[in-house]
Formats: sequence, structure tokens, C-alpha cells
Amino acid sequence: MLSKTPETMSIYLDNAATTFPKPESVYQAVMHAMREIGASPGRGGHRRSLEAGRIMFQAREAAAALFSVPDSSRVIFTHSATEALNMALRGTLVPGDHVITSSMEHNSLARPLHLLQHQGIRLTVVQAGPDGRIDPAEVVRALTPRTRMIAIGHVSNVSGTIQPISFISAIARDAGVLFLLDAAQSAGSVPIDVSALGIDLLAVPGHKGLYGPQGTGLLYAASHVALKPLLAGGTGSNSSSEDQPESLPDGFEAGTHNLPGIAGLKAGIEFVQEQGVEAIGAHERRLVSYAIELLRGVPGIKLHSPADPAVRGAVLSFTVAGIDSSALAYELDQRFDIAVRAGLHCAPRAHRTLGTFPDGTVRMSPGWFTTSEDIALFSDAVLACCTGHPAL
Ligand code: ALA
Repeated sequence: MLSKTPETMSIYLDNAATTFPKPESVYQAVMHAMREIGASPGRGGHRRSLEAGRIMFQAREAAAALFSVPDSSRVIFTHSATEALNMALRGTLVPGDHVITSSMEHNSLARPLHLLQHQGIRLTVVQAGPDGRIDPAEVVRALTPRTRMIAIGHVSNVSGTIQPISFISAIARDAGVLFLLDAAQSAGSVPIDVSALGIDLLAVPGHKGLYGPQGTGLLYAASHVALKPLLAGGTGSNSSSEDQPESLPDGFEAGTHNLPGIAGLKAGIEFVQEQGVEAIGAHERRLVSYAIELLRGVPGIKLHSPADPAVRGAVLSFTVAGIDSSALAYELDQRFDIAVRAGLHCAPRAHRTLGTFPDGTVRMSPGWFTTSEDIALFSDAVLACCTGHPAL
């Protein structure tokens, strides 16, 4: 028996864009930083600034623990995973370097790589299969003597396909090239151990699976990676010099920190650790499997995410024959107060790979706070939108 009715329900299924709601502790941590602390970290010797610095340090330690980073000073806070990816690419690559990426990437990785191509970087885009999976043998084939980096996304934001990253990182290690992982859709719901997986650079959003506020993210750079900062400016350290400090993390975090955001991110990471990454991932996989069970076989509906939960993250993309994806998402929102995302999801090449370009898909993405009841109501609403549609 469903307790929500169409009149009262408000269902958020756009957690791949940003998770919502956040845990209560996250809201409290943001407010505490703003109302009770107020000061900036590293910008004064007074107690408020020291307390802000303590929160920054604890947040760095929490992030390091989550990803098994041995030294938390290698965790650089950014405003997004996009900034982290830009820092990883621009901070390591030089003209003439060759990079291998895939056809499943989000614009956050694809666009900076495309831009760097105009500045002398050579790029090979490995074509993924129609299920979105990269064949590691194709990555091996793409290696050249000039290859400097393999840069790929862990989980597709369009199909939810999980890439075989242990194979790909082993290829990078054997070839002596850097392995950059975009964990935008995996951090917090798929276990990531940077040492065990041989990850040299890890880009993470704070506001998705780590349940922090928007405007937060981080880059992990292994100690052997010679990284250059993206920004120069005030760091609160080595102030007598006009040169940007090369020390991590301060030299890579120029400008006043987003303390409320990072305080919230710390609370979000603690929440993820309390629930357990495995448990969060299993919950989300169950919900996507349930949605697949409800929608599979419905005339006109085509699913574009892997059926096997072992290779699928918390995303289900689908299309309905004859119904525009954006129109369906609009109807779900307006008629049923259900939030999903439609279109190309900033990953046009992934849609070409999946055969859903240029119209895109409707994407529903559950989070930790999504229930089976939400999924049942979502499925009912999709069916209600399709019923009687002239195209079906
Ligand atoms: N990358 C985010 C998404 O897929 C914003 O929606």
C-alpha cells in the first residue's frame, strides 16, 4: 500500500546531478561554520580562524580516510569535480603528451581535453561498447610512446555503466603513465581505494555521493605526481614571496576557502562512513533494479542502462518511443512532482555510443534517501504519462 498520493508526493530522483536531501548533520555543519565560526582558515591567529583551520584539517582527514589516501595533505579542496579535473589535466600535461580517454565521458573531462588538443596535447578516444563498457584491450591498443595519461570516468552519468578500472589502472601502471579517475558518479557509493587501485589522480565532487553542499569538490594527487596549481593567489602561507607556494595543499587552494561548504562536506563524508559505502551502493542498486523490473517490457519503453547490477551504478536511463525525453521529464515534474533529468546530460559522445543522440534520455537517479515506494510511484507516473499517448 503506497502512503504517498499524487497530491502530496514530491520525489527527487536527480541524485546524479546533486544529492538531495542532505543529511541533517550537513545542514547543521554549514550553519555552524557560518554562524558560530565565521572566520576563514589560515588567515589569522585568533581562535575563530584556528577553529576554521581545524575543520578544514578534519575534513581533509575524513576524505583521505574514505579513499585510503595515506597523507591527507595530498587532498586538495576545489569548488567542483570539474575544477579538480581541470587541475589534474592542466597541472600535469605538456604539449606533445598523448592522453587516452573514452567515448563515455562527461563534458567536465571531455571539454578540457578538447581544449588542450588545441594546445598541443594529442588525444585518443577509445570507443566503448553499446552498453557503455570500455574494453581494456582497446586501451592497450591506444598506447603510444608519448602516452602520458589515461583519463576516464568510473561510472557513466548517462547509463550508470561501471568501467573496469582495476584492469585499466593496471594497464596505466605497466605502461608507466598517469591514471586519472573521474569519480563524479561513484564516490560515496562504489568503494575507492587509491592505493589498491593504483589511482594517481582522483577527481571527486563534494555534493553528489559525499552528500556535501554544492560548490565543493576535491582532487587527490599521489605523492609522485608533479602537479602545477590552476590558480595563483593568497594562500595564507609564505606571504613574503610573490611566487606561488608549491606545497600541498595550500599552494593549490589560492583564495578564501568555502568553509561552510567544506564543513558540510566533512559532515557528509562522516555520514557516508557511518552508513558504509557498500551499504549505500547496495541500496541504490536495489532501487535501480526495482525500477528496471517495473519498466522492462512495457511497450515503447527502452532501457539504456546495464541490466547487471554488478556493472551498474545508481542511474537508469530510458527512452519512450514517440515521446520526447524533455517533454516526459516536464510532465513528470508538473503532473507528479517527480524530479528527473532529461536530454544529453552534458555527455554527447556517451549518447552517440549508446545510440541515443541527439534526443537523449530520461534519467532517474536514486540516492540514499530514496525509498522503494518512491520508485513504485515514479514507475506508475511514467506509465500514466505513456498511457493513451498517441505515439504508443
Ligand atoms: N554531471 C551531473 C549530471 O550528470 C551534473 O547531471
